[in-house]
Amino acid sequence: MARFLPIFATQIIFLLFLLSSFTKIQVHGYAKTMNKNLMGLKKEKLTHFQIYWHDIQSGQNPTSISVVRPPTNTSTNGFGIINMIDNPLTAGPEMSSKMVGRAQGFYALASQEEVDLLMAMNFAFIEGKYNGSSITVLGRNQVFSKIREMPVIGGSGLFSLVFGESYGYAKTIDKKFFGLKEEKRSHFRVYWHDIYSGSNPTAMAIVQPQNNSSTMFGFLSMIDDPLTEGPELNSKLVGKAQGFYGSASQEENGLIVIMNFVFMEGKYNGSTLTILGRNKVFLPVREMPVIGGSGLFRFARGYVKARTIKFNQTNGDATVEYNIYVLHY
Ligand SMILES: *[C@@H]1O[C@H](CO)[C@@H](O)[C@H](O)[C@H]1NC(C)=O
Ligand SMILES: *[C@@H]1O[C@H](CO)[C@@H](O)[C@H](O)[C@H]1NC(C)=O
Ligand SMILES: *[C@@H]1O[C@H](CO)[C@@H](O)[C@H](O)[C@H]1NC(C)=O
Ligand SMILES: *[C@@H]1O[C@H](CO)[C@@H](O)[C@H](O)[C@H]1NC(C)=O
Ligand SMILES: *[C@@H]1O[C@H](CO)[C@@H](O)[C@H](O)[C@H]1NC(C)=O
Ligand SMILES: *[C@@H]1O[C@H](CO)[C@@H](O)[C@H](O)[C@H]1NC(C)=O
Repeated sequence: MARFLPIFATQIIFLLFLLSSFTKIQVHGYAKTMNKNLMGLKKEKLTHFQIYWHDIQSGQNPTSISVVRPPTNTSTNGFGIINMIDNPLTAGPEMSSKMVGRAQGFYALASQEEVDLLMAMNFAFIEGKYNGSSITVLGRNQVFSKIREMPVIGGSGLFSLVFGESYGYAKTIDKKFFGLKEEKRSHFRVYWHDIYSGSNPTAMAIVQPQNNSSTMFGFLSMIDDPLTEGPELNSKLVGKAQGFYGSASQEENGLIVIMNFVFMEGKYNGSTLTILGRNKVFLPVREMPVIGGSGLFRFARGYVKARTIKFNQTNGDATVEYNIYVLHY
């Protein structure tokens, strides 16, 4: 089903190593404030890589396999599928060219209408001075768009404290590209509708908990939830929340949430924000980090505050107000 997915894509990665904002860390018992010098941080660097990513689903040695299949065929594009990948990264477009690393992680089909993936992967380098270092990418991949932009949200080794962005397909850009303008602060308020009932559900349970856990530990749901301007579902549609959430606590109602807010309106049309955090759903207000963005939200960081407006215990439908506070360029 997922065979038509991104096959050979060039990944161009722009990285900005950011050091300055990591100096204020609070101390509490097991944590300790460190100064920048102790962390051995040197100068911030700009790096640009061009590599080729091979998603191989066919043959005897596939590097990409479906690990979750949706329980029902509600959509034709495979909404709900999750593929685990260990894809080769090469220096040239041919599979036989020099192997520089592996892309390890997963992608999920998180749109009911298009082929939009939520991708979470580590680029683990195995070559030269970058051997052993990795870059973490998490974002939205609109597979059939010529160029897709996804945030680089972190790294290890030579890529410590990295943030930046990655592109699909080649594009020439000089250093001025990083001549970032002024950092902006934005606040958005949108309403998130998680709909399980009726004939047009926007959320689908894709993995059921194995045991009868009172917190449904192990449960996973894929969402393509409308984001509207007002609390009513029929108010103006401004975007979609695509991704999934799962119960990751055995004792409380605590979800891990990974989703892209894809804006579809006005000047933000096509731009995304990536949210990854913990959601204790029965608290009046929950806070989750914004860890990246694309388009007008490049280099985004910030947080959201989520407040449930409506929740139907019987069918699981929920409306949640999201206040988004974000710094971006
Ligand atoms: C979904 O569709 C595929 C291919 O059309 C079929 O093989 C599979 O059995 C279907 N699954 C369900 C649960 O209907
Ligand atoms: C990369 O590092 C691993 C482990 O340290 C080592 O075994 C391997 O030979 C290195 N590869 C290259 C190409 O340097
Ligand atoms: C889970 O609950 C169902 C019905 O409540 C019961 O039939 C089943 O044995 C339970 N399974 C476990 C592993 O406890
Ligand atoms: C389910 O519960 C049984 C009995 O308590 C336990 O042996 C098993 O490991 C559990 N499975 C999972 C996946 O949690
Ligand atoms: C948003 O962008 C898409 C693709 O570029 C376009 O088809 C759509 O009409 C735009 N929507 C609005 C409201 O501008
Ligand atoms: C909650 O869901 C149930 C089952 O779908 C429905 O009968 C009920 O009317 C809903 N309650 C509200 C307040 O919408």
